[in-house]
Amino acid sequence: MMLALAADHGGFALKEEVKAWLDEQQIPYKDFGTHDGASCDYADMAAPACDAVISGDCDKALLFCGTGIGISMAANKIKGIRAACCSDYFSAKYTRLHNDANVLCMGGRVIGPGAAIELIDVFLHTEFEGGRHQRRIDKIAALENR
Ligand code: RB5
Repeated sequence: MMLALAADHGGFALKEEVKAWLDEQQIPYKDFGTHDGASCDYADMAAPACDAVISGDCDKALLFCGTGIGISMAANKIKGIRAACCSDYFSAKYTRLHNDANVLCMGGRVIGPGAAIELIDVFLHTEFEGGRHQRRIDKIAALENR
């Protein structure tokens, strides 16, 4: 399991807190920035982390901005990415079970590190259910080719 991490300035502090937890858990990651709190644009930060998931260099991505929304919108423009912006445990769990989400987005101005870690933990340890849900995500993929 190799993770891709990225954030804009609004998510930078939360990304750093999450990195400390990933280090403790010995979960490997590649940090695609930003590497300080200077203002930057979330779409620029989302792209290389999502590309790493699509190429297979990374298995999943964790993305952070102020709300988690802008960076999830950007991520979902990338073919093959199913990004979920979550701030509650149920959604983080079910976006794996039902949507096979490969990117979890969180807002550094919305949730603190304790909640983020709970969301990440369940996101990383929940498998896709498949079955009828596979048909549904196939239909998401079909929308990419319209
Ligand atoms: C940056 O100020 C902020 O707009 C961004 O981090 C994010 O919240 C956008 O969705």
